[in-house]
Amino acid sequence: MRAMLIYLIICCFKALVVGQLAGVTGSLSTVNTLYTSAREESLRSDLFGSYQKNSRPAPISDIRCNIKLLSIKDLNIREQTMSSVAYFTFIWNDTRLNWSSSASYSDIEAIYSTESVLFIPPIVVENSVSNLGLISDKTLPIKIAQNGEITWSPGNIYDTSCDIDATFYPFDVQTCSIILTTRGYTSNQLSLSLNDVPVILTSYQENGEWTYIRSNASASVVLHGSEVYSQVNFSFTFERRTPFHLLSTILPLFFLVSMTCFVFKIPVDAGEKLGYCLTVLLAFAVYLTLVSDNIPTTSTSTSYLSVFLNLMLAIGVSAVFLIILVIHTHFKSEDEEISNFTENISIFVAKMVCLRHYTCCRSTDNSSVGVVSLQEKGGNFNDIHVDPIRNRLKWQDVAKILDALFFRVYLWLIIIMIIIYAVIMATCDSN
Ligand SMILES: *[C@@H]1O[C@H](CO)[C@@H](O)[C@H](O)[C@H]1NC(C)=O
Ligand SMILES: *[C@@H]1O[C@H](CO)[C@@H](O)[C@H](O)[C@H]1NC(C)=O
Ligand SMILES: *[C@@H]1O[C@H](CO)[C@@H](O)[C@H](O)[C@H]1NC(C)=O
Ligand SMILES: *[C@@H]1O[C@H](CO)[C@@H](O)[C@H](O)[C@H]1NC(C)=O
Repeated sequence: MRAMLIYLIICCFKALVVGQLAGVTGSLSTVNTLYTSAREESLRSDLFGSYQKNSRPAPISDIRCNIKLLSIKDLNIREQTMSSVAYFTFIWNDTRLNWSSSASYSDIEAIYSTESVLFIPPIVVENSVSNLGLISDKTLPIKIAQNGEITWSPGNIYDTSCDIDATFYPFDVQTCSIILTTRGYTSNQLSLSLNDVPVILTSYQENGEWTYIRSNASASVVLHGSEVYSQVNFSFTFERRTPFHLLSTILPLFFLVSMTCFVFKIPVDAGEKLGYCLTVLLAFAVYLTLVSDNIPTTSTSTSYLSVFLNLMLAIGVSAVFLIILVIHTHFKSEDEEISNFTENISIFVAKMVCLRHYTCCRSTDNSSVGVVSLQEKGGNFNDIHVDPIRNRLKWQDVAKILDALFFRVYLWLIIIMIIIYAVIMATCDSN
């Protein structure tokens, strides 16, 4: 019983294998001949017998092209360059290499050759910053299809110049292009046109710093002297990834800037006023050099960040001057009379800035009540002159009033500037 089963299985297996072999030989016999290298060699000698690689294939050869972007190595806004890794694919017809009408080679669908024997359109990357030579790859196999269609896909790292607009740095969107043009042959001898899908991104690797947004491609002509050359423009738009810059550039800047106004809250007697102010200024200057390393040195576009930084620096420097003024006022000798004008202005300012929290202007010395007594009496200005010894302001009071005024002015100035900067940056994001 067992032996019979094994015999049956072997029989079935045999039938299956033999049947399949018969099928294979059957299908092979329908093809007229087998591929052999000898036949390809004879095809090559037929095709290339009188082939001159320097003559162009047609009166007007149309070269279709597209780009396959693999990745962006770098988009340097300081040097204004983009470094991209990409393949171009150029497709054109060479009627001399068309064997579709010859029955003897009809089973050979394509052969491969290299630049050394084929006509290759002389194409350069027009806006390259590193390599001005023709696009070329001596070892790259070029596909020659049966109908004479040639497919050539040279790849490389292309460094191209790029018009950088740094206005909205670090929230910027940049558009960089790769421009191809023909050398030698003018547009009515060799013309470049776009493939149906001009930009292929199937293998694109996202960049860590830039997000791909969109691309555009266009074919046009360019005038060099009196000659017209064909040109193709592949442009890519990238947006900077902002979280990193928000954390490393913008927030520290806001924190640093907000420290400036609090210098006016330090009492003169603490002796730290000027030291604190200069320290903040110094930190700011160091920070400025760090940031300016990333800002393009060209003057074609000024970034809002630079303007903002310089305004903040100006605020810091002016604060130093005002602090010196306050300290100077504070230490004026008692013998020096405060003029009526100064006093009236001071009282007016004090009423303005201390409307609610008038304690900020209270003199430490209770015998000299100054503004406080004025306010308690309903701000009767005439009282000053009634009892000049009791009610006159001291220089220390004037200094305190100045401190209070400057604190408020600086606080509002900084808040308003931060808001304006934030609004400008927020509106640019939409484009
Ligand atoms: C090549 O020739 C074929 C048929 O003549 C045509 O359909 C095709 O568009 C041509 N290819 C190019 C790149 O011009
Ligand atoms: C190749 O030759 C065939 C037959 O002669 C023709 O139909 C075809 O258009 C040719 N291909 C090209 C690209 O010219
Ligand atoms: C692509 O570029 C062409 C030519 O520069 C322009 O006319 C077209 O509006 C652009 N398309 C997009 C989507 O930007
Ligand atoms: C290439 O295309 C981009 C976007 O369409 C455009 O800004 C740029 O000026 C074009 N460059 C040339 C040389 O035509």
